[in-house]
Amino acid sequence: MKKSTTTFLKHPTKDTSNRSANPPVIRASTILFDTMQELYRHERKIKNHQKISHYSYGRYGSSTTIELENILKELEKAYHVFLTGTGFGGVALALMSLCRPGDEILVSDNVYGPTKEISEKLLKEFNINAIFYNPDSFEDLKNKVSKKTKMILVENPGSNTFEFQDLSKIVKLAKKKRIYTFLDNTWGTPLYLKPLTIGFDMSFSSATKYFSGHSDAMGGSLAVNKKVFKQIMFFYRLSGYRMSADEAYLIIRGLRTLDTRLNQHYQNTKIVINFLKKQKKISEILYPYKPSSKNYKLWKKYYSGASGLLSIVIKSKKKSSVIKFVNSLELFGIGYSWGGFESLAILQELRSKNKDEYLKGRKYFRFDKDEYIVRLHIGLEDPQDLINDLRNSLRYIK
Ligand SMILES: Cc1ncc(COP(=O)(O)O)c(C=O)c1O
Repeated sequence: MKKSTTTFLKHPTKDTSNRSANPPVIRASTILFDTMQELYRHERKIKNHQKISHYSYGRYGSSTTIELENILKELEKAYHVFLTGTGFGGVALALMSLCRPGDEILVSDNVYGPTKEISEKLLKEFNINAIFYNPDSFEDLKNKVSKKTKMILVENPGSNTFEFQDLSKIVKLAKKKRIYTFLDNTWGTPLYLKPLTIGFDMSFSSATKYFSGHSDAMGGSLAVNKKVFKQIMFFYRLSGYRMSADEAYLIIRGLRTLDTRLNQHYQNTKIVINFLKKQKKISEILYPYKPSSKNYKLWKKYYSGASGLLSIVIKSKKKSSVIKFVNSLELFGIGYSWGGFESLAILQELRSKNKDEYLKGRKYFRFDKDEYIVRLHIGLEDPQDLINDLRNSLRYIK
């Protein structure tokens, strides 16, 4: 029977031996085989990428992580899914697997801070040069491609500033020049965008965010096509990257309600934005909500929904009053990460004053000197309560 994604997410991974509706958490380092022949046969199966229900050693994962791999493989329409202990591990896995001395990589200027840092700082030590391009200009990206370009690393939309790019144009260019493509799809999740189906080689999500959804688990998912599979598997097996069975279980549990939660985040966000757009102290909302904007058009072209993460640009003569706004919010926690059930707020310092800050900052995003970016994650609370909370705190902005 053909099933929709909503139905699919509720049904895979039963525990058939114990008759429970959920998979068992299999913690294992040693996996036992009846004979040496069986062990050899099993290792051959793994090498040939055949369907398996367990690995030959716990370092590669357990039956629980295989259950999660299978769900994500279906959701992403992937050849294989590599699981890592944190989201960032998935970014590092892609870079360290595919880039070699003498290569260049093109990185969108609006990627997650540590992604910028590993590209710019760590890869440099291996003689791999990262070149940052303007996410608002395909021409800029095109002009920066050289014979040495190995990978184009895109995050869509970008962290904190939420620019959307014309993804199929990037894929077309990369295929013509035989360049690998990576997309950080944590914001949209494979529910709203499947990067591999539009031609990206790698689709990455921090499973810490919406996949797990409850701010208690960490993990990364790197879904890949056949082209890059072998090279990434080589590094994966030798690096020791893996996800624990306990985290995999929590992420499977989170995925059951991914569709329902995401839809509610989206609905709540639309209601909150309706309030935010009328506030004079907010000069811009960085989220695809205005049909006339370039970002909205690009979002609409590729996505079937949106999530609950956005930024507001606040105009203020006093930074301390923006901090007071954030501090006085009652329902928005102050903290890193997002994608959980709860609302969060954080002031993001994106102005680059020196080389180190540039890694966190933006080269191309233009803002006035009295503008500040506050990132909001709209959670699953009653949106009217969130609006009341925002209204109360906005009065502190001077
Ligand atoms: C867009 C994006 N990519 C990657 C990561 C890294 O994920 P993790 O925190 O699970 O390591 C984050 C974390 O905030 C993120 O926001």
